[in-house]
Amino acid sequence: MAEIRRPDDMVRITTPELAEAFIAEQTELVRKQVGDRKVLLALSGGVDSSVVAALLIRAIGKKLVCVHVNHGLLRKGEPEQVIEVFRNQMDANLIYVEASDRFLDRLAGVSDPEQKRMIIGGEFIEVFAEEARKLDDIDFLAQGTIWPDILESERGIKAHHNAGGLPEDMKFELVEPVRILFKDEVRIVGKQLGLPDSMVFRQPFPGPGLGVRCPGAITRDRLEAVRESDAILREEFAKNGLEGKVWQYFTVVPEFKSTGIRDGKRSFEWSCIIRAVNTEDAMTATVENIPFDLMCHIVERITHEVKGINRVLYDFTPKPAGTIEFE
Ligand code: XMP
Repeated sequence: MAEIRRPDDMVRITTPELAEAFIAEQTELVRKQVGDRKVLLALSGGVDSSVVAALLIRAIGKKLVCVHVNHGLLRKGEPEQVIEVFRNQMDANLIYVEASDRFLDRLAGVSDPEQKRMIIGGEFIEVFAEEARKLDDIDFLAQGTIWPDILESERGIKAHHNAGGLPEDMKFELVEPVRILFKDEVRIVGKQLGLPDSMVFRQPFPGPGLGVRCPGAITRDRLEAVRESDAILREEFAKNGLEGKVWQYFTVVPEFKSTGIRDGKRSFEWSCIIRAVNTEDAMTATVENIPFDLMCHIVERITHEVKGINRVLYDFTPKPAGTIEFE
């Protein structure tokens, strides 16, 4: 099963009809592969794992066990959306793990970006493995592997983590129903499966989440300032037609503070940096030209609504010289 390749003559999925045909074919294949046994899936809420979840729910219903780990670095409303869409609307078998304290405690005082990434990645596998060990009779692990992942791992660009880096003693057969699809096809299939646009067409979001947007050692108060300012930026971009147009946009709150004025008194608070970029492949990026009036409105909202922020800056740096994320 794991060796399935995209046929050279496969027609690109661009219409609901083609998506429906793909869904019907994969549903059959998954039912044949899995029988009446159970499948486990780490459901992040990202495009690929969400589409895999929706497809497997259609194929095998409650025999799919989804685990959503909240590592405390998700955007505002994300865990709630996963629960609403999968548990409430799709009636999925969903285990929600609130692990924010565990991750933030492990990250306390850690300022090196790569060490932060390693802690978040390692802790994620540990939490997921712990949940998996609590379950009986799981034979399969579903993954949101897509065709570019396979091509990149074959070219040695990116390691394709089989079985998500789980401990050696945890052996599962893989179920990879979107393995032969390109990203745009995954989105069309997801839409056809009834997932909301906000999930299927969402901007890229890194695995370490808001952790890389709270530069240096993460503190809960500064992380909250990142989360709240990001929510305002996303809300304003959605209201003003920039959602789906700008490739990636977010806020960053570095550790330094500066002087300002709040309620007529001197304040000493953080600055929030807005980043909004466009790119084809994330290797290079250009800066979005945000309308000045909208920018002023966003600044007004962030400085008034987000605790601890008295200044908002715009990052005009293309990639290169800057990377898209700050660390
Ligand atoms: P950079 O900052 O390298 O980002 O210009 C390019 C794209 O990759 C995303 N990114 C990550 N995604 N784990 C991820 O899953 C990571 O550690 C990570 N670092 C960066 C970034 O959001 C952008 O889309």
